[in-house]
Amino acid sequence: MKYPIYADIALTQKCNLNCSFCYAKANNHSKAEREILKLEDFSNIFDQLDELGVMRVGFEGGEPFVREDWLDILKEADKHYFTYFINSNATLIDDQVAKQISETGVDKICVSLDGSCAKIHDRSRGKYGTFNKTIMGIKNLLNNNVNVDGVITLTQYNQDDILNIIKLLTDMGVNNIVIMLLAMVGSAEANKSTCNLSYSKLKSIILKLTDLKKEKIIIPDLSIVPVGEGIIPWELYLPFIEENRMEDIKYWIGTERLDTLESNCYGCTAGKDNFYINAFGDVYGCSMMTSIPSLRAGNVLKQSISEIWNTSKIFNQLRSITMDELEGKCKECEYLKICKAGCRACAYSATNKLVGSDLRCPVEEK
Ligand SMILES: C[S@@+](CC[C@H](N)C(=O)[O-])C[C@H]1O[C@@H](n2cnc3c(N)ncnc32)[C@H](O)[C@@H]1O
Ligand code: SF4
Ligand code: SF4
Repeated sequence: MKYPIYADIALTQKCNLNCSFCYAKANNHSKAEREILKLEDFSNIFDQLDELGVMRVGFEGGEPFVREDWLDILKEADKHYFTYFINSNATLIDDQVAKQISETGVDKICVSLDGSCAKIHDRSRGKYGTFNKTIMGIKNLLNNNVNVDGVITLTQYNQDDILNIIKLLTDMGVNNIVIMLLAMVGSAEANKSTCNLSYSKLKSIILKLTDLKKEKIIIPDLSIVPVGEGIIPWELYLPFIEENRMEDIKYWIGTERLDTLESNCYGCTAGKDNFYINAFGDVYGCSMMTSIPSLRAGNVLKQSISEIWNTSKIFNQLRSITMDELEGKCKECEYLKICKAGCRACAYSATNKLVGSDLRCPVEEK
């Protein structure tokens, strides 16, 4: 049995913002009042992560800094072997908080910035006044020597602002920038018409960014992260194959990573070498699955993580489905061996089956 090397953990389900596409909002609006994990629960979870050999943890939420005891949790994490980073909207990071962060073992804060101006960022984040706070948060972190990655979640809101956001982040001294592609799960699925990007727009953005990387006009380390997918997800594959520019995929994917293409398993890694724990202790294959209760693998307050990892029906399914078992357009697709069938959370959200197709993809059913 392969053990997990990576875990995402939500410190809270609560958030001070209201992004219309947020996958975590399903937990935020949970009707039944459930208790969230306490400091001692995290201590217990961290001990188990060390025992399992988990190397890296990403803390997220909700907004992690909404939680009053965030510093105690990080101090607890610092007693353990794994390294960790935090995803944050940075609106609550004043100079004092940034200083406290700098005194922990966190190696970076991944700050979401969705617009180069208040109009775009605040619309995307669902609350006026957010842009100035996020920019201040980034500055406070940098002033206190905390590493910052910029995370741009690509949607209709910022589809024409990407280059400006990259410039703004670069000018502030942020050299690692990630463009997150949208998973159609949770509230993103419900608000698809206002947030989802058309494939033609996505393609033109990817090709434009590739040209700028090629000409060395984009200096920072810029990556595109399709959610929970294989090594060559359709979002990166299709634009280049359609334009007969496959050699340019190397600007986004290291060619040494293409070796694993022969395996017959689909590409999504959820439950294979990583997992997610939400603020109530529920365990899922990845964070994008948290809005889908039927994909819950267990709960850390009731079982050990090792037991969930080894015996959960969902995890076993996630690991054992082969590409021959897929249904719908992915099964028939000529690109299946390369793309490896997109995102399983999106496929489940759209078809109610783990073996269904990722319907975000523009390839038509034959
Ligand atoms: C859920 S948030 C939690 C941390 C923090 N509140 C923040 O916004 O950065 C983590 C990241 O996931 C992104 N995100 C939210 N919903 C998403 C979705 N449906 N698909 C892809 N990324 C999403 C957010 O924009 C953010 O960059
Ligand atoms: S993406 Fe982050 S900031 Fe936006 S609603 Fe979700 S948890 Fe809050
Ligand atoms: S139809 Fe499925 S296998 Fe084919 S490119 Fe799209 S997501 Fe990948």
